[in-house]
Amino acid sequence: MRNRKAALSAIAAAASLALTLSACGQDSDGGSESDKGDAKGGTVGIAMPTKSSERWIADGANVEKNLKAAGYKTKLAYGEDDPDTQVSQIENMITQGVSALIIAAIDNKSLDNVLQQAKEADIPVISYDRLILNSPNVDYYASFDNEKVGELQGGYIVEKLGLKDGSKKGPFNVELFAGSNDDNNTQYFFKGAMNALQPYIDKKQIVVKSGQTKLNQVTTLRWDGGTAQKRMDDLLTSAYKSAKVDAVLSPYDGISIGILSALKSDDYGSKSKPLPIVTGQDAEVASVKSIIADQQTQTVYKDTRKLAEVAANMVDSVLKDKKPETNDTKTYDNGAKVIPAYLLDPVNVDKSNYKEVVVDSGYIKESDLK
Ligand code: GAL
Repeated sequence: MRNRKAALSAIAAAASLALTLSACGQDSDGGSESDKGDAKGGTVGIAMPTKSSERWIADGANVEKNLKAAGYKTKLAYGEDDPDTQVSQIENMITQGVSALIIAAIDNKSLDNVLQQAKEADIPVISYDRLILNSPNVDYYASFDNEKVGELQGGYIVEKLGLKDGSKKGPFNVELFAGSNDDNNTQYFFKGAMNALQPYIDKKQIVVKSGQTKLNQVTTLRWDGGTAQKRMDDLLTSAYKSAKVDAVLSPYDGISIGILSALKSDDYGSKSKPLPIVTGQDAEVASVKSIIADQQTQTVYKDTRKLAEVAANMVDSVLKDKKPETNDTKTYDNGAKVIPAYLLDPVNVDKSNYKEVVVDSGYIKESDLK
């Protein structure tokens, strides 16, 4: 009896030891200091801005996919376009002991304090798509060539109006829209677009009848389509009673859809009043469909699958004490320091090439465009 009891307790002790050992070997969701440098040990916090746009949903999923394939765990949170919510989501990730952070900021100036906390906890930070400003605690930036995005949009307007090859002289009426004033990308997109448009504004071949040509007059808080629709309604009422608008610079597909709604309620799109050229960005399904239906004219495709891969590789390198690959160490000064960046190339898309660019690359399924 005694022997049997001793044998049983030895088995129980061995089992509990085995359990303890396996628990030690397992990644804790919170990560820890010792996780660093061990690809299998860390949890990476991913803070995305909003689920209201399909691109960010895909970004979040793709970043997770890449990190998981490299052996990391992930914590993904969406801030629903509220800067305070995003700050507390990042604070939670820090408290839970993530090994690294990937952040697409909602308000690029609201993260200073929380990034200081990240620094104190020795957590590296990758700024994703949108540069975080005024904080020295940003390690790397993964994005696209944002000025080129604007150049593609503005250049498209100049080309399609016939101004570039001189086949038309104008004057043409163009209105300008920009993105959210708390997103650092906004100024780059606008600058790029104005590089293409300003020479023609100076020559009066392009006229902005509203007179609103300064960035702070044309921004759209949080990139909101409804806000853009309202501004376009107002512009049509105030500046286009007896004139027609020939093109609208729109920085993003969600804004383009709002602008088109305003135009259509003012009878644009009818035989006597053709829709103007309307640009966009992100190649979202609704906008590619709109392009196919001859409503929106252009968009800019940014392969966010590649962006997710770049950001995940950056994290992996930093956590393994390797230097991440960058291709721009000059352009992105965030006010505290120049952030080394990897910039991807944006691609112009319209009805003539959408198939080749967004369908053949597998970015959008052809069946989703039906
Ligand atoms: C920008 C981004 C664009 C677009 C926009 C609205 O920061 O670079 O591609 O997605 O936000 O979400």
